[in-house]
Amino acid sequence: MTTSLHVVTGALGYSGKAIAKRLLARGHRVRTLTNSPHRPNPFGDSLEIHQLAWSDPARLTNSLRGADTLVNTYWVRFNHKHFTFDEAVANTKALFRAAHAAGVRRIIHVSILKPDEGAALGLAYYQGKAELERDLRTLGVPHAILRPGVLFGRGDVLVNNIAWALRRLPVFGVFGRGDYELEPMHVDDFADLAVSQACADHTMPSATIDAKGPERFTFRGLAETLRSTLALRTPIMHVPASMGYIASKILGPLVGDVVLTREEIAGLMAGLLASDAPPTGPTGLTEWARQHAATLGTRYASEVGRRIERTKSYE
Ligand SMILES: NC(=O)c1ccc[n+]([C@@H]2O[C@H](COP(=O)([O-])OP(=O)(O)OC[C@H]3O[C@@H](n4cnc5c(N)ncnc54)[C@H](OP(=O)(O)O)[C@@H]3O)[C@@H](O)[C@H]2O)c1
Repeated sequence: MTTSLHVVTGALGYSGKAIAKRLLARGHRVRTLTNSPHRPNPFGDSLEIHQLAWSDPARLTNSLRGADTLVNTYWVRFNHKHFTFDEAVANTKALFRAAHAAGVRRIIHVSILKPDEGAALGLAYYQGKAELERDLRTLGVPHAILRPGVLFGRGDVLVNNIAWALRRLPVFGVFGRGDYELEPMHVDDFADLAVSQACADHTMPSATIDAKGPERFTFRGLAETLRSTLALRTPIMHVPASMGYIASKILGPLVGDVVLTREEIAGLMAGLLASDAPPTGPTGLTEWARQHAATLGTRYASEVGRRIERTKSYE
């Protein structure tokens, strides 16, 4: 097997860590670009850590020199006083250009399921993702665009926090009818998909791939599955989306987080987290949740906390 250098953004974060772990296990060199270089590093000296230099194109290009691939997981989940979608779009474009200038052979870019559909609904998260997909397609570097809807597995936010809410709240609210669907993918399966694209033969054409697990749940069905797996009796109630949003706004300061955004609720209810493509990962959430019932949702996973506490592991 030939070994190469792969640059992975956020290899001390969530999906980036799973991807780096697999690349290292295959004997490759891995360099991460990150703004959180002091998070716990399970890879020791095997992982090269470089600071992300968004505002310095020459340094950004240098940090990509010699790399066979760039695997980009960087994005922001919502607009916030410390970060915005517009900045994330500009930064990612700068990263793409730096990869091009450095002669990177292939870019593996993590997008989102159904970016164009979400953009057409006026959702800024999806508009940014759709813009970046278009940008990458015209960059002139072979690429794979991976489109997850929801990832789960140690360190995730959404599935963990649904389980947390079922454990801790007196009732669990389902927005509207709750019949909109999701196809969660295990983060390790997602990493396998990313690594298969990163290690692909040089002749492999560019591709856009929906990243989805084998099970399809309605949102209500997912909450019911987790509730029975965790042996809970929390009532599941249907609430208007506006009321659910207000409840999540009230909960936010109590857990020090932005629990859910209006956009995320709108995307979820519009069915943007499921697609007609075949599954691309084998691990079912139901069985995984059964195996992790003792720990799933025992601690709230805070997105804002992860941005503030940059020396702590996500887990
Ligand atoms: N997790 C999911 O369920 C899910 C679902 C659909 C799509 N995705 C997409 O998958 C990709 C990776 O997601 P992930 O869950 O694995 O995320 P993550 O590890 O939490 O974030 C990826 C990297 O982005 C950087 N980042 C995140 N939020 C930031 C912020 N507000 N300001 C500055 N930097 C920030 C972090 O870099 P540092 O290392 O610098 O801290 C992090 O390592 C993203 O493009 C996301 O949109 C994820």
